[in-house]
Amino acid sequence: MENQERKKRIFSGIQPSGELTLGSYMGAIKNWVNLQDAYECIYCIVDMHAITVRQDPAQLRRRSVEQLAQYIACGLDPQKNIMFIQSHVPQHAELSWILGCYTQFGELSRMTQFKQKSQQHADNITAGLFTYPVLMAADILLYQADLVPVGADQKQHVELCRDIAQRFNGVYSPTFTLPEPFIPKMGARIMSLGNPENKMSKSDPDGCVYLMDSPEEIRRKFKRAVTDSETAVRFDKENKPGVSNLLTIYCAATGKTLEEAEAEFAGQGYGVFKPAVADAVVELLRPIREESQRLMADKAYLQSVYQEGAQKAQRLAEKNLSKVRRKVGFVAW
Ligand code: TYM
Repeated sequence: MENQERKKRIFSGIQPSGELTLGSYMGAIKNWVNLQDAYECIYCIVDMHAITVRQDPAQLRRRSVEQLAQYIACGLDPQKNIMFIQSHVPQHAELSWILGCYTQFGELSRMTQFKQKSQQHADNITAGLFTYPVLMAADILLYQADLVPVGADQKQHVELCRDIAQRFNGVYSPTFTLPEPFIPKMGARIMSLGNPENKMSKSDPDGCVYLMDSPEEIRRKFKRAVTDSETAVRFDKENKPGVSNLLTIYCAATGKTLEEAEAEFAGQGYGVFKPAVADAVVELLRPIREESQRLMADKAYLQSVYQEGAQKAQRLAEKNLSKVRRKVGFVAW
């Protein structure tokens, strides 16, 4: 009976390659929190992904633990979810190697994120950056995840993961669950405040709101947010990308629909609208910032969470990986 009623499983992760942003909160973490009761959830701090571009070691260590504090502060309950640091579970790297042998060079060459990142880091285009989506596929398939809650930019990687799984299942026998991306209706792609044509990214401090920004900093960033020369607060992605992005942020922060938000600001200019968006974000992030700061003062607790998480994750991972080793023909020992 237990088996029949097994909750569906979720896996997702964020790179500790920078501070967490409002984009990753609205695109991913907010959904994680909503899903934690109905699903068996595994949420990871993907430090092995982060080193695909150069990281400062001390900063990477600090950010990995801070990210865990922020996951918890956002509302993820360590009692309900498995939360761990990717490098603590070496099975990810092993499965990644195996899956890399079932992934085509051409498939990886088509990945948008690889094309973008190899332009940004033209002096350091490593094999790791290229094979990054294989490691991500390993993350997901190692746990037989059914659902992967991510922002829109990760959809292509989840689709590749399905293709790899399907290929492996076809060559051997059904082994991996085919995962589905789970992308929010509101907030799947939060754009930069400074340049609403680009995605909000942790590497662009002015266009980006960090979860740990102070209320003053948040207000300053929204004040400078790019809008347009009209005055109407109206959702029109093509012609009003800045205002549309602010409306999306406002709705994701308050739970209102676009129609409700447009009605609320009808007849009012950006001078009223922009501070209102800033206020909504300040109130959304205030408890998260305060709780993170409190948790960061308790390193022993955070350590106990990631240690316990790694133990649980290793157990699940090893069970699946041992099947994979057998299927590909490795000698048991
Ligand atoms: P990463 O670390 O770039 O981003 C983490 C999550 O936040 C979402 N996100 C956004 N959503 C909306 N608007 C934005 N501006 C925005 N910026 C980021 C991302 O879509 C993502 O869900 N490859 C992944 C990390 C990863 C992973 C995994 C995810 C590694 N293994 C396995 C899921 C499952 C990445 O680089 O995300």
